[in-house]
Amino acid sequence: MKRVYIETLGCQMNKADSEHMLGLLNEINYIPIEDIKKADLVIFNTCTIREAANERFYGHLGKLRKEKEANPKLLLGVGGCVSQDKREYLQSRFPYIDIVFGTNNIHRLPELVKKAEKGEKVCEIFEELPFELPELPIIRQTKATAWVNVILGCNFNCTYCIVPNVRGREISRKPEDILKEIQRLGEEGFKEVTLLGQNVTAYGYDLSSNYSKEKATFGYIPDDPEYSLAKLIRLVHNVNGIERIRFITGHPFHVTDELIDTIAELPKACEYFLVPMQSGDDTVLKRMARVYTVEKYKQMTEKIRKKMADAAIVSDFIVGFPGETEEQFMNTIKAVQDIQFDACNTAAYSPRKNTPAAEWKEQIPEEEKNARLRYLNSVVNEVLEKKNKNLLNTNQEILVEGKSTRNENRLTGKTRGNRVVNFEGENKLIGKLVNIKITQAKSWALFGELINK
Ligand code: SAH
Ligand code: SF4
Ligand code: F3S
Repeated sequence: MKRVYIETLGCQMNKADSEHMLGLLNEINYIPIEDIKKADLVIFNTCTIREAANERFYGHLGKLRKEKEANPKLLLGVGGCVSQDKREYLQSRFPYIDIVFGTNNIHRLPELVKKAEKGEKVCEIFEELPFELPELPIIRQTKATAWVNVILGCNFNCTYCIVPNVRGREISRKPEDILKEIQRLGEEGFKEVTLLGQNVTAYGYDLSSNYSKEKATFGYIPDDPEYSLAKLIRLVHNVNGIERIRFITGHPFHVTDELIDTIAELPKACEYFLVPMQSGDDTVLKRMARVYTVEKYKQMTEKIRKKMADAAIVSDFIVGFPGETEEQFMNTIKAVQDIQFDACNTAAYSPRKNTPAAEWKEQIPEEEKNARLRYLNSVVNEVLEKKNKNLLNTNQEILVEGKSTRNENRLTGKTRGNRVVNFEGENKLIGKLVNIKITQAKSWALFGELINK
């Protein structure tokens, strides 16, 4: 057996892809290891959402160069979104990379590695996903909770975003294939599944018979579609052993009444909505091509909370988008305060090659972007602290995921709303659902005590 180490950067899509890479490589006798120094093959699964993500990867690559010089037999592969974007550039700039592959040809990895084992330099990128998505083997890196790809790619064209360039257009997996995978997870003892897609709320539309590819780019739902995320969640709900269902990432445009009603109705569906708002200003939203207004977004949150008072609504925000005025930025601050999000991922705008906004003249200076980011983060933390304090003395259902990394004696898990909770308990609780009384609330985590052991 040979040993492979995969370093995964970026989003859950990449985490799921890495698990498939491990499954595929196992078919040519590679076993996963956690110590990079003992590897025969190192793979970087890269992200390029912001320039900082690229830099993180280049940093890793630089460190590995010495190892590679010391051990010429070590094979080095680079996959993921940087490869898809940079193609041949990677090997010309870093000639010690043996294999460059993309996000659309993961299934080809065993063939590519076999070539590299014979000393060939390999670079293979597919422009698009294969029309028939191959079902890929998998070696999971999590217990209790599992990632399941349901839709690949994204049909929107947000003017700041590189994802459509590197992940292509939407293709949904067939419900039968998804169910087969989740049934197996139930049998193996997994309790939670997270249905994954860059635009997961568009699940199934492209499988529907009256789907129009032309209309899809600007926010579109076919009339009375045969397939949808809500319908898929209903099917998953019947799977024995699975106790919790989540989905990420949603697009506000596709959060339909059908979806809200389904989550409210089904006990296994977690009341957790990761639906990025991106900006709290209508002009900026329009320039971002987000296809909703602040008012529409608020209506969505009100509908969700009317049906599920405890629902967690989580957003991403970009500050310093080209042309964003001080006043427009303050509208984002206002939105965070008004809507009282349960968590926010925030970032300063990073220009991406071959995206419209990167070409615009009105770029905001770095210092200004960073100042806005710091201010937004302070407001986000205030809201979070308050939200977490509201949970003090409540009982929460926690899925125990493992030991806490900060404190060996503690276990860690997540609420239905995806908040991290740490508590003292025995290892045999890992992988189980337990009830915890929340006794301490910080902005980054909750602490609690086990009830009814
Ligand atoms: N599909 C999801 C998010 C995809 S990318 C959605 O539509 O919301 C994850 C997050 O990265 C985005 O929500 C956005 O906030 C951020 N992001 C994407 N491109 C960015 C850029 N060029 N600069 C800064 N942040 C960016
Ligand atoms: Fe990017 Fe927009 Fe697609 Fe999200 S919806 S992946 S932000 S293009
Ligand atoms: Fe990054 Fe690619 Fe995900 S760019 S955020 S790893 S889809």
